[in-house]
Amino acid sequence: MGALDGRVAVITGAGRGIGREHALLFAREGASVVVNDLGGSNAGEGADTGPAQDVVDEIRAAGGKAVANSGNVALWDGAQNLVDQALAEFGRLDVVVNNAGILRDGFIASLEELQWDAVIAVHLKGHFNVLRHAAAYWKQESKAGRQPQAAVVNTASASGVTLPNAGQVNYGAAKAGIAAMTLVAAEELERYGVRVNAIAPMARTRLTLATPGMGAIFAAEVPEGEFDAFSPANISPLVAYLATDKCPLTGKVFAVQGGAISELGGWHDVKTIETDGPWEIDDIAGRLP
Ligand SMILES: NC(=O)c1ccc[n+]([C@@H]2O[C@H](COP(=O)([O-])OP(=O)(O)OC[C@H]3O[C@@H](n4cnc5c(N)ncnc54)[C@H](O)[C@@H]3O)[C@@H](O)[C@H]2O)c1
Repeated sequence: MGALDGRVAVITGAGRGIGREHALLFAREGASVVVNDLGGSNAGEGADTGPAQDVVDEIRAAGGKAVANSGNVALWDGAQNLVDQALAEFGRLDVVVNNAGILRDGFIASLEELQWDAVIAVHLKGHFNVLRHAAAYWKQESKAGRQPQAAVVNTASASGVTLPNAGQVNYGAAKAGIAAMTLVAAEELERYGVRVNAIAPMARTRLTLATPGMGAIFAAEVPEGEFDAFSPANISPLVAYLATDKCPLTGKVFAVQGGAISELGGWHDVKTIETDGPWEIDDIAGRLP
């Protein structure tokens, strides 16, 4: 028995890195997987059907079920096609793993408009696009009396939730938005039987290998037989658990790296000052710092 037997999952950006590991594990655990990947560069330029198809071939060679989708999740219709393909190929949809991502780092004072737009489009809008079309299907199922036991796992980042990273204003803002989107979606979609959680992973992939300061740490050789704490495969068991029909969790964000999983807490009051009437600016200046 696999933990995901009979479930149908769409995994975005699953041609490489962390998403590829999700797809391989999901298929080993019995899920039918739509492997989405645009196949572009780190910066999201170009397209190639190869990465998604290679993962599908690998899954099928091992006896699993998968189909490839090389659409762009940043496009409304690309996300609609992805959801439609899951329904056409496998007859249902139980899980969305939003994972596709790019980087176009730069410092604020010199960031180009396209660097901002491209990163927001792939991460923030790309997550929303797939969530939106899947939610419409799950709502329809629920209204028809077939209450889903569905799960969405989004991909945030330390850059957006715990570790502000100079040079990643576009990426950090998108990832913080994804964490917020996760909480709103968990509230909203519970009535349709949909749980929504997010992860903030850390692993060796082409994205981190190309990140200044991180590449060398992540590329270090791991002696034979030792636990590879930066392997992208370390991220997938948590995502698979969150995707099971037995998992009760929703509205959570987890940091995950190597052998560690941490539940993260969001914004909360740390200090309150009050007045009985309108504030004077000087009162605030005297009491807030
Ligand atoms: N690797 C880390 O340590 C780390 C840390 C924090 C967050 N993340 C996040 O994890 C996710 C996976 O990243 P990764 O490190 O495995 O990188 P990766 O580059 O290995 O994989 C990302 C995949 O997404 C695909 N993709 C990009 N734009 C797409 C689009 N518009 N439509 C469909 N597919 C698209 C790429 O072709 C690529 O194969 C990303 O969301 C990333 O921001 C990774």
